[in-house]
Formats: sequence, C-alpha cells, structure tokens
Amino acid sequence: MPVVSLAECESDAEASQSSLLPKDSSPVPANTRRWPSNPALAAIAAALAAVALALLCVQRFRASTFSGASGLAQLAAAPASAAGAFRDAKSFYMYRAQSDESYAFENVNAANLAGLMWYLEHEVVFPQCPRHYNITRILRYNVTVKTPHHFQHNFSRFFAFDKGMCTTPTCAEEYAKNGFTVGCQYQQSSDYQGAVWYSLPGKCPVTPLVGKNAACGAAMPGGRCDRVTGERNCTWSADFAGQLDIAELEGVSNWTHFCLHHGNEYVLPFWSGRGHKEHMQTRLRKVQKLFESKYPKLPSQLEEPLCDWRPRL
Ligand SMILES: *[C@@H]1O[C@H](CO)[C@@H](O)[C@H](O)[C@H]1NC(C)=O
Ligand SMILES: *[C@@H]1O[C@H](CO)[C@@H](O)[C@H](O)[C@H]1NC(C)=O
Ligand SMILES: *[C@@H]1O[C@H](CO)[C@@H](O)[C@H](O)[C@H]1NC(C)=O
Ligand SMILES: *[C@@H]1O[C@H](CO)[C@@H](O)[C@H](O)[C@H]1NC(C)=O
Ligand SMILES: *[C@@H]1O[C@H](CO)[C@@H](O)[C@H](O)[C@H]1NC(C)=O
Repeated sequence: MPVVSLAECESDAEASQSSLLPKDSSPVPANTRRWPSNPALAAIAAALAAVALALLCVQRFRASTFSGASGLAQLAAAPASAAGAFRDAKSFYMYRAQSDESYAFENVNAANLAGLMWYLEHEVVFPQCPRHYNITRILRYNVTVKTPHHFQHNFSRFFAFDKGMCTTPTCAEEYAKNGFTVGCQYQQSSDYQGAVWYSLPGKCPVTPLVGKNAACGAAMPGGRCDRVTGERNCTWSADFAGQLDIAELEGVSNWTHFCLHHGNEYVLPFWSGRGHKEHMQTRLRKVQKLFESKYPKLPSQLEEPLCDWRPRL
C-alpha cells in the first residue's frame, strides 16, 4: 500500500492542523507527485488523487497508534459548549495502557476509559502474543486540572507524545503561548462512544528522555505540580489510583501458558461482540467493576469533563 504522510492528510484537510501530527510518517512516494501535462488529464488525475488521498488518510488514521494519533479526528468537531475554562480545579480519571515497565506519568498521552478501551481493542490486543508494546496492564490516575486563567477552554489542543516527548513541532510554541495545558481530543472514529485522549505536558516536553536536564526544566517546567494553581507551570496534578492486569480482566489465570498454547485473545469471552455497542458497554462496566473490587475505597467513576477544545474549521 502506498503510504501517504499524515502531514499530507492534514494539510489537505486544514493547513494549520498539520502541526498536530507526529513526524513518524513516511514520505509520499515521488510518483504520486507527478502530474500529467495535459490539463484535462491533469484535472482528472487531480480528482482521482484527491479521492485516493482521502482514502489513504482514512486508512492511515485507522492504522495510527495511540502514541502517534492522527489529528484527523480533531477535525470532526467536539460538542459545542459555552466558553469558560475550569475556574476551579476539576478531578477525573485518566487511564493508561502500559507494559510492566515503569515510566513517569508526564509527557505522556492518556485517555478516558472509552478511549483506553478503544485503543486496547484496536491496537494492543492481537490474535497473537505478545501484545503491542508488551502492554500488560491498565493504570488509573486521579488527574486534577486547572487551566490558566487567561485561557478560554478547559483543555488545549491534543499533542501526541512518544517516548516522553511531544512529537509535534509546534508544541513548544503552543506551550509558550498558553502555558503547559492539558490537551484533549475526541476520538471521532472510535466505536466506543465518547472516547477521549489527553496529553499531559511535563518537564522538558520537547526534549528526548535522555536529554532532559535542569536547564530545559527551568526553561520549560511543564504543567505538573502537587497542588494545581492554574499558573502556566501548574495546570495539572495526578495521583495513582490503581491498576489492573489485562489478563485478569480477561479471566486468563496464566498469561504465559495462554500465550504458548492459544495466543488469540480475541476468542476470549471478554472480547466477544467486538464492534457492537452493547458489548463495549459491558466491557467498560467490567473494567469499572474490577477496579471497584480491587479499590473499594475509591469511586469507580468520576464525572468526566467535556473535551471542549476544538480546532477552528
Ligand atoms: C469547563 O469546566 C467547567 C467545570 O466543569 C464547566 O462548568 C464549563 O462549562 C467547562 N467549559 C467548557 C467550555 O466546556
Ligand atoms: C517485548 O518483550 C520482549 C521479551 O521481553 C522483548 O524482546 C521486546 O523487545 C519487547 N518489545 C517492546 C516493544 O518493548
Ligand atoms: C483526586 O485528587 C484531588 C486533588 O488532590 C482530591 O481533592 C480528590 O479527593 C481526589 N479524588 C479521588 C477520588 O481520589
Ligand atoms: C511556577 O512559577 C512561579 C513563578 O515563576 C513560581 O513561583 C512557582 O514556584 C512555580 N511553580 C512550580 C510548581 O514550579
Ligand atoms: C504458567 O504456565 C507456564 C507455561 O505453561 C508454566 O511453566 C508455569 O508453571 C505456569 N505458572 C503457574 C503459576 O501455574
């Protein structure tokens, strides 16, 4: 399949959106750029190319990963809402899929439960072992957000983070302008209703993991702090609020054994009825129930804020 760059998808859709995209896409093959010299043929070719591009963009979007999410979903509007940022701090759950390794919970993307389940179902669980990125567990955080006072939205634009670093060139510019705000993005193509992904800028958000140091920390402190104030450097805090083993959720008692002898998680009852709304709701409830039984002192749900940021169309 020819590969169209995400930047190309975006630039056709809306020029200013291209900044949302990770730089991990392959260049467009040279031959797709050559136009016939006959103007009539050129017009037909251009029309065909536009259709092909649109299709490729959709495919590319479907294939995009959590860490490299396409900005296309952002083009579809988030629900309209009254203006006004969180004047008071707002706490809600964010979830993350992770391997057994530990990482700092900043300069990462996270999701609401619907967004997380969509990611798991489509990009993590495979018909064979190991899972994508060796993901084994679902982490839950109580995240508290307070947006800088001058900001009119509760959230800012979503940025894709990969390996502890924002992969979008305009990240630095945006954070300099608006403060280190939490970004959100409705996953419009998700079949899990209301799926949202978030971006959580921490220290040195535009520096690779190995290069992060005191100097970039001073220049770009990020938004994470202990008690949110809504200052540009203190827009969010997070407390770990439990974790689940995905195998436990699926009712697999010995994951090693399962991988050796079966491997296809999709045949497990937990994943039955993929693509069916009522089964998705059942799966979401199972996740909430398991969290509830493991962490009875914590509420299994917190009211979710509206993802109110949307690009200008
Ligand atoms: C921001 O959040 C507050 C508190 O939840 C809410 O009252 C307000 O409507 C939200 N603003 C937007 C633009 O959604
Ligand atoms: C997953 O785990 C295997 C075995 O430990 C390892 O070889 C592989 O590199 C890991 N893959 C990723 C993406 O971390
Ligand atoms: C979430 O964190 C906020 C801020 O620390 C705290 O006030 C709230 O009680 C916490 N909520 C839960 C359910 O732990
Ligand atoms: C944020 O910046 C202000 C002003 O420079 C400073 O006083 C405050 O300590 C900083 N907060 C954090 C959490 O770094
Ligand atoms: C899990 O399965 C593996 C592979 O079949 C086996 O070697 C191991 O003993 C099992 N572990 C337990 C706790 O049963």
